[in-house]
Amino acid sequence: MKQRIYIVGTGAIAGYHAEAIERYAESESGRPLLYVTDVNKAALTAFIQRFPWAAPLDNLASMLDEPSREDDIVIVATPPVTHADISCQALRSGRHVLCEKPLAMNREEADLMLKTAEEAGKWIGCCSSRFAGLQITEEVKGLLAHGTLGDVYQVQWVQRRKRARSGIDYQPQSRWFLNRAVSGGGTLMDWGPYDIASLNEVLQPDRVEILHAWMTNPETGHPVEAEVLSEVEQHAGATMRFHLANGGRVTVQYERAACCHGEERSLAEIEGTGGAVSWDWLCFDGQGELKHYSDVGGDPEVSKVTVKNAQLGMMDKPIIYFMQSIAGRETPVILNEQAVFNFSILAAIYDYIRTGEVQIVAKGARP
Ligand SMILES: NC(=O)c1ccc[n+]([C@@H]2O[C@H](COP(=O)([O-])OP(=O)(O)OC[C@H]3O[C@@H](n4cnc5c(N)ncnc54)[C@H](O)[C@@H]3O)[C@@H](O)[C@H]2O)c1
Repeated sequence: MKQRIYIVGTGAIAGYHAEAIERYAESESGRPLLYVTDVNKAALTAFIQRFPWAAPLDNLASMLDEPSREDDIVIVATPPVTHADISCQALRSGRHVLCEKPLAMNREEADLMLKTAEEAGKWIGCCSSRFAGLQITEEVKGLLAHGTLGDVYQVQWVQRRKRARSGIDYQPQSRWFLNRAVSGGGTLMDWGPYDIASLNEVLQPDRVEILHAWMTNPETGHPVEAEVLSEVEQHAGATMRFHLANGGRVTVQYERAACCHGEERSLAEIEGTGGAVSWDWLCFDGQGELKHYSDVGGDPEVSKVTVKNAQLGMMDKPIIYFMQSIAGRETPVILNEQAVFNFSILAAIYDYIRTGEVQIVAKGARP
């Protein structure tokens, strides 16, 4: 029987999932059956025109009413405010769920999603896996595993763009990105899931403390329409302490801007007592540079290597890894407890802003 995949929400990101499914079908086990629904009928019609092999359904209820099969997958590709509710309904219908990032609006919702998945005996995965499993990340992990950097004490994760606000500079038709009640937040909710997923993939902490955080919305000459809320942060930062499985502690200086007035910058750098590494963590064009800094007889040395990425494209990864994992293959999929832990770190930055208190996020902790 053919694999069945259901997509809820047929906007911008749904098209990437469908393309990935098409490509995957060509190379692997045959094209799955694809069912789609959207509350906006124009969006649904446009999707079917683009992917005529997909079958439109009236609504979520009719989609989930159909008896489930063991390997059914629902992709939740709607705005964040709907993620927890749609995911839980899909899990309760007996289907695995691959949810878009950010996983949820807050820690409570994320915990409920995990609990529901466990009760249903199904998987809840997160699409924050788009940069997971890169060869360059494996090289960085290798340096850490071999102790090449000595005792690691600091990470700088600084990702600054001047004008890259979702809902304004990027995908302006989706103004919901600017409405906190729908998006959960600004650039942190939008790009933070990838930052935290990559940081966690490299450092593999089991506990993270948010020691300090700040967020703001720089003023610019491109205001959105007066009726559109523009209340979300576009520049944010946090000082975090990552507790590693080997007992080590690392301070992470984190900054993310989709709008700022200073220099654009992308820095992913780990420093230890024996050396440092910085790397192109995104490998957007299929390869990236890794710089290893060391000391040779008292002189600073830097060696540079270009690392090619032999993995899937970033937009293909979430659904393909998820399908492969369900089929029993080892992949860097981000699932269940790890998905909730990653998201909870992000949500805890907002909790710090709200309360002014240090936040602790422990892997596997139950509310
Ligand atoms: N656009 C991107 O490049 C991108 C990249 C990665 C992840 N994402 C994530 O994907 C999700 C969707 O983003 P998008 O860019 O596709 O948004 P979008 O605005 O293009 O599309 C969202 C669609 O969801 C539909 N929808 C809203 N509520 C619904 C409901 N209750 N039931 C069914 N359909 C509903 C809307 O009508 C719309 O067609 C977000 O969580 C976003 O962060 C987007």
